[in-house]
Amino acid sequence: MIEDIDWNKMWMEAMENASWKKRRGDMTEFWDKRARRFSQSIKDNDRPAQIISKLDIDPSCTVLDIGAGPGTLTIPLAKIVEHVTVVEPSGGMLTCLKENAANEGLENITCINKKWEDVHPGEDLDEYDVVIASYSLSMVDIKAALLKMDKVARRSVHLFTFTGDRMWDYTELWPRLYDEKYQAGPDYIYLYNILYQIGIRADVEISTTEHKQRFSNLEEAVEQWKESLNISTPEAEDVIRSHLTAKLIREDGSLWSKNTMKAVSICWKKYTEH
Ligand SMILES: C[S@@+](CC[C@H](N)C(=O)[O-])C[C@H]1O[C@@H](n2cnc3c(N)ncnc32)[C@H](O)[C@@H]1O
Repeated sequence: MIEDIDWNKMWMEAMENASWKKRRGDMTEFWDKRARRFSQSIKDNDRPAQIISKLDIDPSCTVLDIGAGPGTLTIPLAKIVEHVTVVEPSGGMLTCLKENAANEGLENITCINKKWEDVHPGEDLDEYDVVIASYSLSMVDIKAALLKMDKVARRSVHLFTFTGDRMWDYTELWPRLYDEKYQAGPDYIYLYNILYQIGIRADVEISTTEHKQRFSNLEEAVEQWKESLNISTPEAEDVIRSHLTAKLIREDGSLWSKNTMKAVSICWKKYTEH
């Protein structure tokens, strides 16, 4: 019976086996190191505008952004809504977010420097009209994480994730670097089924999108891939350099990494459809 499948347990196993989880070590340290580059990279991306166009927001609403990173969505959202609260464990990401907010003159953002697992409704958390988690669902007990999101949301919850291979061509690079197949980790189908089992009938939209990143030169790209893949040997660096030399596209005086990915948006409204 489909009801007998423990999707949360399967999520935990898939997380445990995810290649990035095995190789990257502590995720907060990983994001601390990546923060500045990540903050820069979102400036060439139309992903924030695409996501914001899907949200159920208006000028009087409050938003909770879980795993906000450098403020990819927080910064544009804070220009539209009343207030944005951020839950973000990486101090490096929060430093970038605060700089980005100051550059835009935004003063309606509250930051909580914790993991989602470590915040408690009624203590650190209030209730929010709209709750968002965008590419930040790395919680091991995802069922508990989703239930907490539902609990603090007054109007709706929006999750943004992916399906299939991720965009950073790791499927090709991983076997060359580590002599093992790349395991992407759990995707949206686990989330959908966990939500279904807790009685939430979510709306799901899958779209093919382009992920673009601009680099001034090849070495800048090599540095980013080295950092993301957590490698340090000269042999591994050569593998990355030859991969990027073939892959990057020269356009408008810059080098571009362009990938298509299957982006997934999962949304549920409170008190209406479930
Ligand atoms: C890929 S970035 C996404 C940032 C932003 N939401 C976006 O869409 O660009 C992932 C972010 O999730 C945060 N994160 C990872 N695990 C988390 C957790 N358990 N609770 C809250 N945030 C988490 C990371 O620190 C990082 O800043």
